[in-house]
Amino acid sequence: MRIAAAGVLLFLPILATSAILSNPGDSTICDFTSACSCRDGRLHCRCDHDESVRLAGSGHDWLPTTIGTITIENCREVWVMGKALEKLTPLRSVTMSNIAMLYLESEAFSWDTSRVLDSYNNPGIDVRIFNTTIVNIPAYAFEGHFHSVVLERVKIATIQALAFSNIANNMETLEFLNCAIETVEQQAFKKFNLDQLKFSGGSIDVMPSYSLTGITVRNRLIMEGLKMGYVRSSAIKVDGPRVFRLENCIIDHLEGDAFKVTTNGPVYIEDNSFPDLSYGVFGGISVDPRYLATAGRQELYFKNNTLYRFSDFALLFNTSGFRPELSRILVDRPCSCREVQSWISKLVKFSSLPPPVKLERQMTCSKEQGYNILIEEFERKNCTAAAGQITLVILMIILTLVALIVMCLVGFYFYKRHSKKYMNVPTNDAINNRLSVLSTNSNHIIVIPEGRVYRETELHVVEEHLTPIPPTNVSQHV
Ligand SMILES: *[C@@H]1O[C@H](CO)[C@@H](O)[C@H](O)[C@H]1NC(C)=O
Ligand SMILES: *[C@@H]1O[C@H](CO)[C@@H](O)[C@H](O)[C@H]1NC(C)=O
Ligand SMILES: *[C@@H]1O[C@H](CO)[C@@H](O)[C@H](O)[C@H]1NC(C)=O
Repeated sequence: MRIAAAGVLLFLPILATSAILSNPGDSTICDFTSACSCRDGRLHCRCDHDESVRLAGSGHDWLPTTIGTITIENCREVWVMGKALEKLTPLRSVTMSNIAMLYLESEAFSWDTSRVLDSYNNPGIDVRIFNTTIVNIPAYAFEGHFHSVVLERVKIATIQALAFSNIANNMETLEFLNCAIETVEQQAFKKFNLDQLKFSGGSIDVMPSYSLTGITVRNRLIMEGLKMGYVRSSAIKVDGPRVFRLENCIIDHLEGDAFKVTTNGPVYIEDNSFPDLSYGVFGGISVDPRYLATAGRQELYFKNNTLYRFSDFALLFNTSGFRPELSRILVDRPCSCREVQSWISKLVKFSSLPPPVKLERQMTCSKEQGYNILIEEFERKNCTAAAGQITLVILMIILTLVALIVMCLVGFYFYKRHSKKYMNVPTNDAINNRLSVLSTNSNHIIVIPEGRVYRETELHVVEEHLTPIPPTNVSQHV
């Protein structure tokens, strides 16, 4: 009897589990997933043993519709299925941290997609994701009403087209903080309004054309401390920010009109490094004409930026609405007198104002490793004097050459004229060790040993006579 009772007790949990499995509608994630618990409208999942969590709107682990807060931490895998959150009317926040792999389906964070284009008084949900890897953010992953979406230290392989689209107009902020994003597809961020869009720290390898398109930022558009590989033409099309800051970024390749930003206020492009700039990379930044009409020209600060390779007029600015202020343009290349002049005249162009004066006072080039010098100073010290010296040297060389040629010609002329008077002179005949005279026709060329030619050598023919020595009375003393 006791054994039988124990057997029933042992089997009870199994029976219970099978009952749940056979009747999925009864069991929510709160009961089903051991890592998760629900209390007072909060779902809290904390995986301490490698568990995985699946958020779904239906199935045997469905999310109760009374949940207002979702927190998931330290899990190996988390799956957010399509429309998982859709029926959670009281939902206010979703926080995930330390998830080794977060898989998002299309419409994973789709919440209250009604009336996305009107602004009604729904604050929307807050989504925060920290220290997590997301392979793919698919189309419509984020749609509906959001108060904020913040991703921090998140690794993302791809943000697909329309990943952030169909988002209600009253979003306050969308932030990517220290995220490593490999690829952003075209139209990944499409057609929504928000107060602030911020990319801070981290990296984005490729931003194709129209990565951000039709985005209206009501307050601040910020890209700071971000490292980017390629930013293609019209990659960042944003309207309306009251301030646009591009600060402390390193952007390896920037194409023309990469930024198509129409602002309602000033622009700060400061402390960046732009190793490769095409024509007119910032030419697409302009002031909204309506704002310009009421508020007048806005400031555009281009300060302390480092350039390396750049096309002519890489720094073209639309000055219809801006008053650009350029200072400390660091050209990270060795100064050369030949190049600095073209840097000064062909780097910056203002669309409607006269070009900036004394740009050489704002530009530096590198004189030695790690030591920069103002181009003005470099030119004064090296180019003007050196240039003068070089012309002088060239002039002297030319004069010397001309003189030499003239002398040669004169010499040749006289040589020709007087050559008839030359005649041969006996040379040292090497074989017979005697003097020989070369004679051609009647002309005699005088050649003396060593092959040198002399004009005024005279030949004296001395006749020798044998004359008897007159006898003398000299006594010889032996
Ligand atoms: C994320 O990771 C960093 C460093 O590993 C840590 O300092 C931070 O507290 C983590 N954040 C969360 C929310 O777990
Ligand atoms: C200039 O920009 C560089 C980064 O490119 C930064 O390290 C440096 O502190 C900036 N200098 C000033 C004076 O702001
Ligand atoms: C330049 O700016 C003005 C006023 O802000 C704007 O109307 C015009 O379209 C801009 N030009 C270009 C080529 O973007």
